[in-house]
Amino acid sequence: MTIQRCVPVSQPLLDEAESNCVNDALLKGAISGFFGDYITRFEEEFSNYCDCQYGVATSNGTSALHLALVSLGIKTGDEVLVSTFTNMATIFSILYIGAKPVPIDIEMDTLNLDPSLLERHISPWTKAILVVHLFGHPVDMDSVLDVAKKHSLFVVEDCAEAHGATYKGRKVGSIGDAGCFSFYANKIITTGEGGMVTFCESSLADKARNLRGLAFGDTNKFMHKDVGFNYRLTNIQAAIGHAQFGKIEHVIASKRSIAAYYSKRLANVDGLQFPVEKSYARNVYWMYHLVLSGPNIGRRNEIMRKLSEVGIDTRETFIPFNLQDIFIKQGLVNSGDCPNANSVAYAGFYLPSGAGLTEEDLDYVATQFVEIIEKKS
Ligand SMILES: Cc1ncc(COP(=O)(O)O)c(C=O)c1O
Repeated sequence: MTIQRCVPVSQPLLDEAESNCVNDALLKGAISGFFGDYITRFEEEFSNYCDCQYGVATSNGTSALHLALVSLGIKTGDEVLVSTFTNMATIFSILYIGAKPVPIDIEMDTLNLDPSLLERHISPWTKAILVVHLFGHPVDMDSVLDVAKKHSLFVVEDCAEAHGATYKGRKVGSIGDAGCFSFYANKIITTGEGGMVTFCESSLADKARNLRGLAFGDTNKFMHKDVGFNYRLTNIQAAIGHAQFGKIEHVIASKRSIAAYYSKRLANVDGLQFPVEKSYARNVYWMYHLVLSGPNIGRRNEIMRKLSEVGIDTRETFIPFNLQDIFIKQGLVNSGDCPNANSVAYAGFYLPSGAGLTEEDLDYVATQFVEIIEKKS
């Protein structure tokens, strides 16, 4: 009897390092988001790793984005230029404020926002550019910063998928006015659920830290300074984060070697667009994302189903902002706004990319994938 392999699309690397830290937090009774050493420890080590002086840990990546925008003073009626091709959490964070997300189409190779399209979308209400370093590849930040400087716009980086990625040697999260990270279970490092905003400016970090914790007053705690949020990360989650932080470079090295392995094994397959690494970039290959092209257009769901039948877990790519039914109905976007993103939306998916995958797992995925894609149904 052959035992079918089961290859998950990703899985966190957890061991005694995490359980020791969690037990330590538990035994000290430091379980909330207000007390305990792990929160500040994790904030300091992670933000320093990102070449930033300040880190404000949050309950998740979505709250990190919302908190960053509010801290920068983005308000109802403002417009934010944002990559259309992203997890909708990025878009939601703008909508929570009552601001208007304006979709920007993508570059076909990096799948990131195309900076050359930014200026034509600027209006008197534009206040910020929200870039997303998608699937681990950094955005072409100099081009974004040039536009931002010229028009006095804030730049927020959504780094949920790109911990440790660099642009011209600079860590993502340190290049714009704020960097927003997610520590969801499938991210480069995880706290289960969690997030962080990184800042290089202390006044912004202070504001975000206060807003994160219900904006309590300084002298009289219950005389609140503002409409705050409870976006706190707990000390238990931060304990996991601290242990995970010790593995960050190991995870990135694994992701990079998984990507190199797949790209080599699949190099001769026709009708596939591979992830790239631009000369300015260190891609951390959060997920190994492929786009079907040429003879394989229209085969995405069939290929994913066949891979699933042999125990290989994959995920379809994001549906862009401009193709979301709810936003088309609201008149916020038109489906034809972003042709490049549209061409990727139903042709993209990612292969298993967890840092714990073995050589045998990778060989199995590559062998099955080539067999399935080359045998048309
Ligand atoms: C690009 C991007 N932004 C934001 C988020 C939201 O993060 P979270 O799920 O931690 O709220 C995610 C993923 O989950 C993401 O992939």
